[in-house]
Amino acid sequence: MKEITITSQFVIYDAIEELPVDTQNLFEQALKAQKNAYAPYSKFRVGVAISLDNGEIVLGSNQENAAYPSGLCAERVALYQAASNFPESKILKIVITAAPEATGIPAPIPPCGSCRQSIAEYEIKQEAPIEIYFMGEIGKIYKSESLKNLLPLIFNKKLL
Ligand code: THU
Repeated sequence: MKEITITSQFVIYDAIEELPVDTQNLFEQALKAQKNAYAPYSKFRVGVAISLDNGEIVLGSNQENAAYPSGLCAERVALYQAASNFPESKILKIVITAAPEATGIPAPIPPCGSCRQSIAEYEIKQEAPIEIYFMGEIGKIYKSESLKNLLPLIFNKKLL
């Protein structure tokens, strides 16, 4: 028997202004995208901005459905749009913002498990790390250099 410890590393920023200008711009775009969320059921709006190595920025927001499981998270709306429109481009950064309809949440909102698995697929495919930034409506911003910090022991195509 053996025990292992897996560590995750994040950088925590106090405010958007502490980030490099291009990342600040991605936050602005994600906040705009968040306004286009269709979230009549959860009333929880999520916005995502993805930057690609070809200079494109792809946006997404969560899209819900009366048949609940048919809806999709903002991260995957943006990821699949990026992958289908720019299949040869690498994803550099994913910026996530979120806000419930009620008052501000200071907790940074990380991507859900399914979205982590989807981000993992593209990080493995492009053989380059994807930076992930996430925040709540107000408060601190978390940055991870790679999806690996968010999903240890990733299930991946090599295991099929
Ligand atoms: N949601 C996202 O868009 N991304 C996540 O990573 C977590 C959850 C959405 C799905 C649903 O529309 C709402 O937030 C509440 O779960």
